Amino acid sequence: MTQPKRIAVTGAAGQICYSLLFRIANGDVYGKDTPVVLQLLDLPQAQKAVQGVVMELEDCAFPLLQGVTITDDPATAFRDIDAGFFVGSRPRTQGMERRDLLSANAEIFRTQGRALNEGAKRDAKVIVVGNPANTNAMILAANAKDFPTENVTAMLRLDHNRALTQFAKKAGVSVDAIEKFVVWGNHSPTMFADWANATADGKPLPQVIGDEAWYKDTLIPTVAKRGTAIIEARGASSAASAANAAIDHMRDWISGSNGDWVSMGISSDGSYGIPEGVMAGVPVICSNGSYERVQGLKLDAFAQQMLDRTVAELVEEREAVSALL
Ligand code: NAI
Repeated sequence: MTQPKRIAVTGAAGQICYSLLFRIANGDVYGKDTPVVLQLLDLPQAQKAVQGVVMELEDCAFPLLQGVTITDDPATAFRDIDAGFFVGSRPRTQGMERRDLLSANAEIFRTQGRALNEGAKRDAKVIVVGNPANTNAMILAANAKDFPTENVTAMLRLDHNRALTQFAKKAGVSVDAIEKFVVWGNHSPTMFADWANATADGKPLPQVIGDEAWYKDTLIPTVAKRGTAIIEARGASSAASAANAAIDHMRDWISGSNGDWVSMGISSDGSYGIPEGVMAGVPVICSNGSYERVQGLKLDAFAQQMLDRTVAELVEEREAVSALL
């Protein structure tokens, strides 16, 4: 058997991790031949709850799970890791302004960025799930000075997967028939689900669906408001689907996306007019353990306006936390 992969997961006592940890331990990220060691981080007051989750992990008797550590110390959690799922973050509480939420999380991700810098392997792959995910990822990367910025990413995959299913239902095809679809920008209601280049069984998706009004007036708002709709229906926020999206993101990054596009929040190099350093969702193709931006796409006036709107929000978020960068 190969060497175990060390995987840090933050927010281990939370809802998303109650699904995520079991999927990782089952081999859903690195595959069925690679053992894993979990390094779980949560706040001091959540340590007992994490112990309960670990008891359940033990009771699953996962053959690939070679060890678990529990800690409230980021330096311990990120030591020698091959991958990190940054799920834990400060939720918005009553009376809290958006700016306060951004700063509270910025503090957390600054501390964690420094610990990541100290302890993680230089080729470790990091996904930030905890909201505001894009800006948290930017702060994490900025505070991990000797850690490659391209190895820090933010999760847009849940928005991507949400849209895929809506498209597949409308087009009457299976989800895997749809390719070259992307969600641009921020993981927030401003995200832009862009079907312009998408195909269904190789045919242009806009032509297959043939209903632009549905795309603009139903699909885009449905995906943007899906999180709220789930809270209304379930009485709790999306957790299993968020965990699944995090797994999809990491698995594709590690093993490749078979030539298809996936949506990842990555640090901008200025492409598509997205200011450098902003962590924005763009189309990428994953292969050989890395990703490449899809370049040279033409955006029509509608797409450009949608992209500008979501990027403007990211720039505003960056300004709100500029002191911590
Ligand atoms: P939750 O509230 O159930 O769990 C969060 C956990 O994080 C708690 O156990 C808490 O103690 C822990 N935590 C808080 N601060 C921490 C810190 N400094 N270090 C370590 N752990 C810390 O939340 P849930 O449902 O698991 O969601 C987690 C995050 O993921 C939220 O911010 C949520 O908004 C976000 N999310 C992001 C999505 C995306 O697509 N990017 C989709 C769904 C959720």
